[in-house]
Amino acid sequence: MVLSATELTNLPQLLPPRGMELVACGSCLPQSVVSNALLSSRVDTNDDWIRDRTGIGSRRIASEADSLTSLASDAAQAALDLAGWRAEDLDLILLATSSPDDLFGTAPRIQAVLGADRAVAFDLTAACSGFLFALITAAQFIRGGSMDKVLVIGADLLSRWVDWDDRRTCVLFGDGAGAVALQACPAEQDGLVAFRMRSDGQRNSCLTLARSGARLPLVGDLSREVGGFGTIAMNGQEVYKFAVREVPLVLADLLEQAGLGAEQLDWLLLHQANQRILDAVADRFAVPRERVLTNLAAYGNTSAATIPLMLDEAVRDGRIRPGHLIASSGFGAGLSWGGALLRWSGPPP
Ligand code: UT7
Repeated sequence: MVLSATELTNLPQLLPPRGMELVACGSCLPQSVVSNALLSSRVDTNDDWIRDRTGIGSRRIASEADSLTSLASDAAQAALDLAGWRAEDLDLILLATSSPDDLFGTAPRIQAVLGADRAVAFDLTAACSGFLFALITAAQFIRGGSMDKVLVIGADLLSRWVDWDDRRTCVLFGDGAGAVALQACPAEQDGLVAFRMRSDGQRNSCLTLARSGARLPLVGDLSREVGGFGTIAMNGQEVYKFAVREVPLVLADLLEQAGLGAEQLDWLLLHQANQRILDAVADRFAVPRERVLTNLAAYGNTSAATIPLMLDEAVRDGRIRPGHLIASSGFGAGLSWGGALLRWSGPPP
């Protein structure tokens, strides 16, 4: 069939509207556990301070045998298995990470491990907002009609970039990977009910992992910068204030967009940065504690991985069930933040 110029222009309107549904998830954590007590043997801190101020009790740290590629590939394979998909069916693998194995992109390595030969694979960097930003980005390809089956992965090994002598930051972070499988569906089943993405570069200096900037002579008068990065630097109090202000605003915006009330939410699934932030947001919307998902105590802040890790845990233990409405928000370096109202579909029967 040959389409006229007018038909081509109107093609998006001619096609039936599409949505994307969340059908499966997977996760992978390194084996090594570093408790608060163990960490106290390295820096001047203690279990009481860390638990009181953050809710964190331990974190997982990647061993020599682990890599971002291996953890992310295992999480992705678990999501494929739950969905009952073959890797060859995938159109896209989108990896949200700030700690790649290769600065040129780690997603293609994951593609190779999975054997997803038909897929295009690339990285997206937005720190702790990365997973939600990637999920929302992937949904646009699906809704637009160019892709049917997508894996979105959130994975970080921030243990690589933490200053392990800085007690203000090293107690917070851990390593991990999580993934979700998304597929096209009719618009009325769309699992991305509402979303919002924000960033504010004016406040970039609040949380950085900046290039180290050392220079070496090159030729003549010229010098060149040596590639490399420093360690994570954070103004904790500023980031805390930012999170407790912006996350409720973005969630209120989402509920308004969707015409829903907070009492209709089944779950609050926030980026796992600090239990006090989770509690403050829950209180703002009067969401009871039993509907606030948290695994901070076991894993700490795994950056881009926190939301899919938590999702996977709650799906596999039966808390999140098909049809449940989840309010999610990611926030962190950039500064960046965002949110999404998600409807969980679950794997095909
Ligand atoms: O995913 C990215 C998003 N990041 C975040 O959401 C992090 C947001 N910020 C926070 O979660 C909190 O600001 C922190 C948990 C990082 C810090 O908690 P805080 O209540 O803001 O503590 P603070 O920085 O005001 O420090 C209070 C005291 C200080 O001692 P002095 O100056 O009052 O004597 C710190 O030196 O606690 C001290 N301190 C510690 N003490 C024991 C800081 N870190 C530690 C520690 N152990 N690990």
